[in-house]
Amino acid sequence: MKVAVLPGDGIGPEIIAEALKVLKVLDLKIEFEHADVGGAAYESSGHPLPDSTTKLALASDAVLFGAVGDWKYDKLERALRPEQAILGLRKHLGLYANFRPAICYAELTHASSLKPELINGLDILIIRELTGDIYFGQPKGRRKAVDGPFVGDDEGFDTMRYTRSEIERIMHTAFKAAEKRSKRVTSVDKSNVLETSQLWRDVATEVGKMYPHIELDHMYVDNAAMQLVKEPKKFDVLVTGNMFGDILSDEAAMLTGSIGMLPSASLNSKSQGLYEPSHGSAPDIAGKGLANPLATILSSAMMLRFSLNMESAALRIEKAVQAVLASGLRTPDIYSDGTQRVGTVEMGNAVVAAIK
Ligand code: IPM
Ligand code: MG
Repeated sequence: MKVAVLPGDGIGPEIIAEALKVLKVLDLKIEFEHADVGGAAYESSGHPLPDSTTKLALASDAVLFGAVGDWKYDKLERALRPEQAILGLRKHLGLYANFRPAICYAELTHASSLKPELINGLDILIIRELTGDIYFGQPKGRRKAVDGPFVGDDEGFDTMRYTRSEIERIMHTAFKAAEKRSKRVTSVDKSNVLETSQLWRDVATEVGKMYPHIELDHMYVDNAAMQLVKEPKKFDVLVTGNMFGDILSDEAAMLTGSIGMLPSASLNSKSQGLYEPSHGSAPDIAGKGLANPLATILSSAMMLRFSLNMESAALRIEKAVQAVLASGLRTPDIYSDGTQRVGTVEMGNAVVAAIK
């Protein structure tokens, strides 16, 4: 098995280093190959997603990804910004199915901004379509994103589009995931306003008929945003498009109070996948040893499970993380009175020790 390791920017390299330590102690038959991505790649080769990085990703069974982005690149034209690297990888690898679990760990209930009774035991799976929608529609492409006045147009323009087959395949992903959970799917759209969303809802209903044992309901995205803070536990599998999924997955992640804990997986139809923490590159704390490596460590467990067919090793990682949390170790993002504050490296070491 081959894994492309793309640490990226900000805290990316620190958290990836800890995930690699954990993977290596398991002594699995995996070959790791590193490459630059994002701002780091822009510095080394003038492009956030060099061809060599794309080729490596395509030739690997999985990609272990840190994070990209830094304010210092805000002045670059859009095509050269670090974020383009992750969008490019999603497109080139066809990673249409994005899994973003929002789980509230019992030990971290207090870290949420919601009342404990609303979120204890919370376990939502957001499935976000990742290669369509307004993210990959047609921008007009004439506005220059440089510091200073916009030139040329007085209009910004992006198209929202989805095809039937794009919606069908993500719906199958959602129903299959629901089969292994509590057999409920909520499909989120804005079909009271958008034609794209009307197609989304129609196709969701059609595909739903193939899964008569799964309960499907539909919700408008504004209501979903509201219900997530009002009564989050009423959701189980939530499936939605790229743009709404971007927003709702951040909202759901933060409900758990522990965005530093949440992994994510983006898969294509061949089970190749990109695995990354749900949080970003956090340039403000980069290099300080403060970042929580657990989201990345848990992402590597998802990688073992979904792309490398190494379920027992995945479970060993997840159990080790549970044990470390139970022992009271906390990085600053999840620290509370009575627990023991540790840094990035100590947290990684503790997971390694728990595995051993
Ligand atoms: C995410 C991020 C990306 C997105 C950015 C970095 C392009 O916010 O993965 O959620 O919008 O998809
Ligand atoms: Mg996002």
